[in-house]
Amino acid sequence: MITRSLTHSRSNSMAAFGTQFTAKMVTSRFRDGQWSDLEVVPVEPFSMHPATHVLHYASECFEGLKAYRTESGDIHLFRPDRHVERMLNSASQLLLPVPDRAALTRALHMAVAAVAEEIPAYPGALYLRPTLLGTEEDIGAAARPTQKALFYVLTSPVGDYFSGGLQPLRVKVDDKAQRCTPSFGAVKTGGNYAAAMRQIVQAKQELGTDQVLFAPGGVIQETGAANFILIDDKELLTKPLDGSILPGVTRDSILALAADAGLTVRETDFTVAELLQRAPGAEAALTGTAAVLTPVGELVYEGETIRVGDGQMGPWSAQLREQLCAIQSGASEDPHGWRVTL
Ligand code: COI
Repeated sequence: MITRSLTHSRSNSMAAFGTQFTAKMVTSRFRDGQWSDLEVVPVEPFSMHPATHVLHYASECFEGLKAYRTESGDIHLFRPDRHVERMLNSASQLLLPVPDRAALTRALHMAVAAVAEEIPAYPGALYLRPTLLGTEEDIGAAARPTQKALFYVLTSPVGDYFSGGLQPLRVKVDDKAQRCTPSFGAVKTGGNYAAAMRQIVQAKQELGTDQVLFAPGGVIQETGAANFILIDDKELLTKPLDGSILPGVTRDSILALAADAGLTVRETDFTVAELLQRAPGAEAALTGTAAVLTPVGELVYEGETIRVGDGQMGPWSAQLREQLCAIQSGASEDPHGWRVTL
């Protein structure tokens, strides 16, 4: 039974997203061609030589996934296999050594088990940040991969990502700027977030927006923090996974739930002109591990504000968010087998 209250934010009393950490993390180091055993260690500052590879050549990637505590006290991870897969892909694109699939999976379980008592009650969750850094001390290694690496899984009790909770977002549509190097969009690496940051901050200062929807050449991609979906006329539109955007796990989950609910899911390129033309009668939302499904109430294009639907969360968005939250919280069945119990 899904209760209406799941669509409402109840987690705003928590510290700002990503600012509070548990005291333990899981680590492993790569040197001399092998990874050390996974270990649970205290979270404390670590020192790095100023020549460390990641500090100069941005050899790093990360993941973001969540663990939940259900009302009955069970703990589960949400789709950890997809996050492991994406980290393996990111590491491969960056030529970073990475623990194998089994070790990455074990590390996620160990990280949650180590701090199980700190997982907040739903709608809070434990956010896991598996991180991989190139740690060779060699500034000559700009054109070859790091021979040393550090992997760790940091955990953070979290509530809402957007500070307004579930308030509809105001989003700038930018048809000029690139979010990142186009062929690198599927890689979850800090450099992509760094590349997008100036546009997001500038738009916030000038237009009061929460995010930027990147649409270089007039084709809708995604925002700096999450994927983008448009729902109109029983159809859900979103950009296909062509390597220019992040293959979002929440995106994938919402598409599956939308298809279950009878929406026609079209992973297709669509333009800024089409978006703006459909927006007044449509629904739009961002999807991501941190963002969950957050509605978009207003688009800002070339200084003009275009309301999306009535500016509030539309019925399809509410239903899809509700269904996703019910699966994540354990309040409903898990028809797709997304929960992995510890
Ligand atoms: C996530 O949703 O997990 C992300 O990594 C996005 C980040 C902006 C918090």
